[in-house]
Amino acid sequence: MATSSILTAQDLTKVVPSAEGELTILHHLSLDLKRGDSMAIVGASGSGKSTLLGLLAGLDLPSAGRVTLAGRDLSTLDEDQRARVRAEHVGFVFQSFQLLDSLNALENVMLPLELDGRSDARERARGLLERVGLGARLSHSPRQLSGGEQQRVAIARAFASEPDVLFADEPTGNLDSHTGERISDLLFELNKERGTTLVLVTHDERLAHRCHRLIRLDAGRLVAPLEP
Ligand SMILES: Nc1ncnc2c1ncn2[C@@H]1O[C@H](COP(=O)(O)OP(=O)(O)OP(=O)(O)O)[C@@H](O)[C@H]1O
Ligand SMILES: [Mg+2]
Repeated sequence: MATSSILTAQDLTKVVPSAEGELTILHHLSLDLKRGDSMAIVGASGSGKSTLLGLLAGLDLPSAGRVTLAGRDLSTLDEDQRARVRAEHVGFVFQSFQLLDSLNALENVMLPLELDGRSDARERARGLLERVGLGARLSHSPRQLSGGEQQRVAIARAFASEPDVLFADEPTGNLDSHTGERISDLLFELNKERGTTLVLVTHDERLAHRCHRLIRLDAGRLVAPLEP
């Protein structure tokens, strides 16, 4: 049923300029996710995974085709309207963590909650950082944290606003297998408890196989959807 779709892509194509002329980095890609689905996107480096994630989250616009997120056709919205849809519905963990250096770990996680006007921002942010194992690092600034710790702050921040769809680019990429497993558990708890839809780019086989769906990109093309 179209009504239970939270995220659909129809015939997405992304063309970028390059020194050799136009380069097509995504070719006619379509997919449909329901609320509570989880999907892993896998594929070699350069196959278009991050590009696809950016388009699905409305951070970037396709050259052709359309994305519908939480019932809104993103191609009909201007940048401010897309930002509002993201603020309301989307959490994003980038491949580069995009933490603010002037804020400590706790403040980075509190920020989206404060923007949301939540009075329990501090308590909730502290609780999330404890769940990712950083209860003892609340007052560290990002540059005082290891790569894996920064990643966990970014994940706590993405969880903070309880998004309908959580997009994560290599959420366990910099983590040892034990910590990675904890982060995976947290992702799927959120998926179960709140029906959060997960869209994950990952090279982590175990994480990919926990998802309901697995898609593979090869040079910007969707290889026939695979059952995990
Ligand atoms: N703005 C751009 N201009 C030109 N080329 C681009 C642009 N953005 C991405 N590309 C190219 O498109 C291809 C796909 O990039 P993308 O970042 O989506 O790959 P990826 O699958 O996420 O790779 P990785 O696993 O290394 O993160 C790459 O070859 C990249 O160089
Ligand atoms: Mg990438």
